[in-house]
Amino acid sequence: MTTIKIQADQPGAKINPAMWGIFFEDINFGADGGLYAELVKNRAFEFPDPLMGWIKISPSLARGEISIRDDGPFAPANPHSVRLRSEGTAPFGISNEGFRGMGVRQGEAYHFSAQIRGVTGSPVLLVQLYGADGTLLDSVNLKNFTGDWKKYTAVLHPKDTDAKARLALLVDGKGAVDLALVSLFPEKTWKNRPGGLRADMVQMLADLKPGFLRFPGGCIVEGSVLERRYQWKNTIGPVEGRKLLINRWNYEFLHRPAPDYFQSFGLGFFEFFQLCEDIGAEPLPILNCGMACQFNSGELCPLDQLDSFIQDALDLIEFANGPGSGTWGAKRTAMGHPEPFNMKMLGVGNEQWGPQYIERLARFSKELKEKHPEIALISSAGPLPADDRFHFLWPKFRELKADIVDEHCYAPPLWFLANSHRYDNYDRNGPKVFFGEYAAQSVAMVSTKNRNNLECALSEAACLTGLERNADVVRMASYAPLFAHVEGWQWTPNLIWTDNLRVYGTPNYYVQQLFSLNRGDVVLPVTLAEVELPAVPGGRIGLGTNQTAAEFKDVRVTRDDRTLLSSNFANGTPGWSVERGNWTVKDGAYQQADPKASGLVLAGDASWSDYTLSLKARKLGGSEGFTIMVRYNGPENYVVWNIGGYPNKFHGIQVRLAQQDHLVAQVPGSIEAGRWYDVRIELKGAKLDCYLDGKLVQSAEVPPLQVKRLYASAVRDEKAGEIILKVINPGDDPCMTGIKISGVAGVASEIRAIVLTGAGLGAENSIEHPLAVAPVESTFNVTGPRFDHRFPQHSMTVLRIKTR
Ligand code: AHR
Repeated sequence: MTTIKIQADQPGAKINPAMWGIFFEDINFGADGGLYAELVKNRAFEFPDPLMGWIKISPSLARGEISIRDDGPFAPANPHSVRLRSEGTAPFGISNEGFRGMGVRQGEAYHFSAQIRGVTGSPVLLVQLYGADGTLLDSVNLKNFTGDWKKYTAVLHPKDTDAKARLALLVDGKGAVDLALVSLFPEKTWKNRPGGLRADMVQMLADLKPGFLRFPGGCIVEGSVLERRYQWKNTIGPVEGRKLLINRWNYEFLHRPAPDYFQSFGLGFFEFFQLCEDIGAEPLPILNCGMACQFNSGELCPLDQLDSFIQDALDLIEFANGPGSGTWGAKRTAMGHPEPFNMKMLGVGNEQWGPQYIERLARFSKELKEKHPEIALISSAGPLPADDRFHFLWPKFRELKADIVDEHCYAPPLWFLANSHRYDNYDRNGPKVFFGEYAAQSVAMVSTKNRNNLECALSEAACLTGLERNADVVRMASYAPLFAHVEGWQWTPNLIWTDNLRVYGTPNYYVQQLFSLNRGDVVLPVTLAEVELPAVPGGRIGLGTNQTAAEFKDVRVTRDDRTLLSSNFANGTPGWSVERGNWTVKDGAYQQADPKASGLVLAGDASWSDYTLSLKARKLGGSEGFTIMVRYNGPENYVVWNIGGYPNKFHGIQVRLAQQDHLVAQVPGSIEAGRWYDVRIELKGAKLDCYLDGKLVQSAEVPPLQVKRLYASAVRDEKAGEIILKVINPGDDPCMTGIKISGVAGVASEIRAIVLTGAGLGAENSIEHPLAVAPVESTFNVTGPRFDHRFPQHSMTVLRIKTR
C-alpha cells in the first residue's frame, strides 16, 4: 500500500510568510476594462483614433457636428477633447461602448464626471445610460457651462441590471460644448474609493491572502520598443496627468488582436502599492532595466545611458519608502499616503536574458545595493525553466551574488508532474528562487486552445508540493497571468476570469488558495513509498537533417544479441514513416536531397529501450550535419544527437521533454560533405553514449520524465498547533494510503479534510458554473497518528491534523 510518513519532530526550513503571491499584468483587459473600474473606454479621446469606442448618435431629426480638438487643453498630458455642436433640431451627440459593454447593476449608483467647457449657446447636456436593447436605464441633465474647463458630476441609478450598457452624451438645444476626460465609475468600488478598483475582482485577490503582489507585469514592463516601456513616474498623481500608452498586448498576437487596448494608467503605481496594503501583500514592483522585450525588438539602452533607468529605481524606492519631505515621498503624501509603503523587494527587468541583461543587472545591482542594501533585488532567469538562456544566466547570478532569481515556466501538465523534485538539488547557499510565472498549458504555450482545467491545476499542485518541501530555496511563487476578460483576452490560461459583472476562480485559483491559506510556518519531512509509476527511457529512432541534404544506410538497432531493426533500404523503406521533408531511396540509401530542407524519418517502437543504433550517414550539401533521434515519443518528447549543428560548429545532445528544449552536452565538431560517417548511439538506461567513426564523442544522462501516483508535502502551523498535509492524486484511481505521523504524543480524533476535485481531469469552472471545481470541507475521525485515508482520483486534499 502507498504510505506517507511525516516526521513531526524534525522541522525543516521556515516558510516565507510571503511565499504564495500574485502576479499582476495588464493583459487580457486586466487593468483597463478589468480591475480599474472605469466604465468609459477612451475617456480622454487620446487613442490614435480619437473616437474609437465612441459613436455618433444622430437621430433622424438631429443636425450637428462632432470634432476632435486640442486647443486650450484641460490637461497637457491628455490634450484632446471632443466638441459637440448641435443645431438644436433634436438631441445630438456621442455614445461610448465601454469595454465590451458597461456592466451596471439595478439600484446601484454610478458616478459620471467630465470636464466641460461651453462654446456657444446655452444647451443642456443629457447624460444617459442605455441597456443593450436600447432601454433607457437612467438620464440626468447638466447645464450652465462657462467658457472655462470645469468638472461636472452626476449620479445615475440604472433601473435594470445590464452587462452591456452604453453611456450617451447628447446636446439638447442649439449650441456647442467641449468635453474632456469623460468618466463613469460604480460607487461600489473596492473600499468605495472614488475612481477605484472593481470590488469583486479585488475580493478574489484578497481571498487568496497573497504574500506578495508583483506588478505591473510581465512583458508590458519591457514594451515592444523602449519608448513603449512601462514608466512608473507617468502613472502617479492626478489621473489627468497620466499619459496614455498603447498596450503591447494590443498588437502582440495576430490571432488575438485588440486594437482598442490601451493603458490609461488609472491603475498606477500608487494604486498598486495601496492595493498591496489593502490585501496584506508585500509590494514587488518590476522595473525596466534598459531592455525592450526580447521577443520583440530587443532594443537596448546603451550602458552609458542607463543612469536614468537606475534613477527611476532609486526614485521608486523613495516614492515607496522615503519621508514625505523628499521629492518622491512628497508625491506619495500628496496622493494621500504619508506613511511609507514599506517596499522590500524590487525586480530588475521582467523576463530578460543574455549577456546584455547581465551587464545591465550588474550596473543596477551595484548602485542599488550601495544605496539601498535593504531592498532585495529580483533577477530574471529568462522565459523557460531549463533552456540555454537559463543555463547561461544561473552561473552569472551566483557570481553576482544575486538575491532572488525569477524563474518562469509555461509547460504542459506533464512537465509539472515530472518536476516536483526540481528544487531538491538546488544549491542551498546560492541565490534564492522566485517561481514567478508559471501555468500548465493544456495544449501549448500561447495556444488559444489552452484550458484552465482540473488536470492543469492538479499538475501545478503536484509541482508546488516540491516548492513547499524546498521552502529554504524557493521563497516565493506566483501563477501567471492573473486576470482575463471572457471577451477581451489575448492569452490563456489565466487564474481568474471575468465578464462585465461577474468573476470566477479557475481550478488553478483554488489550488493557489489551498496552498496560501494552508501555508504553515515550517516544513516537515515527508517520505512517500509505493508512489513511483514506471518510466522507461525508451522510444523510436529517427534520421534527420536541418537545412541539409544527406543520405543514410545500413541502419541497425540491436539490443543485447537481438536485432530489433535492420534497414539497408534495398527493398524500399518498410517500417519507416516520413515526418518531414522529401525522402527517396537511391543506391540503397535513404536520401533527403534538398539542402535547404529539414527532414525526419522515423522507425521502431515506443517500447524500445536499452538499444544501440548504428548507421552510416553522408552529407550531400547544405549548412549542417545530421540529426539522429533516439527515444522519440512524439514531436514534444525526444532526444536528438545533433552532429555538426549550430551551424556545423558543434555536436550536441539535445533533449525535448514536455515541450521544453535543453542542450545537455556540446563539443566542437563539424561534418564534411561527401564522405560516409559511422554513427553509433548506445542507450543504457537513461545514459547515452554517442560515437562518430568509432570514437566516443559525447555522453549524457537524460532521465525520463517520472510521474507519480501521489505527491505530498507537509508543514506545521505553529499557532493552530496543526500539521497540514497536502496530497495530490492526479491519477484515474483513488489511492488508499497509510499515513504515519512520528514525533507527536498524539493527534486529535477529528481531522479536517479540504478536497478539490471535479468531474474528470477536463473539469472547468465558468461564468455560469463558477464553483463546479471548488474546495469542499469535511471531517473524519482517527484513533491515533497512524491511520489510513483514501485520496480520491483527480484530487488535491489538504488534511489539517491537530497534534498533542
Ligand atoms: O504571462 C504572460 C507573459 O508571459 C508575461 O507578460 C511574460 O513575462 C511572459 O512571457
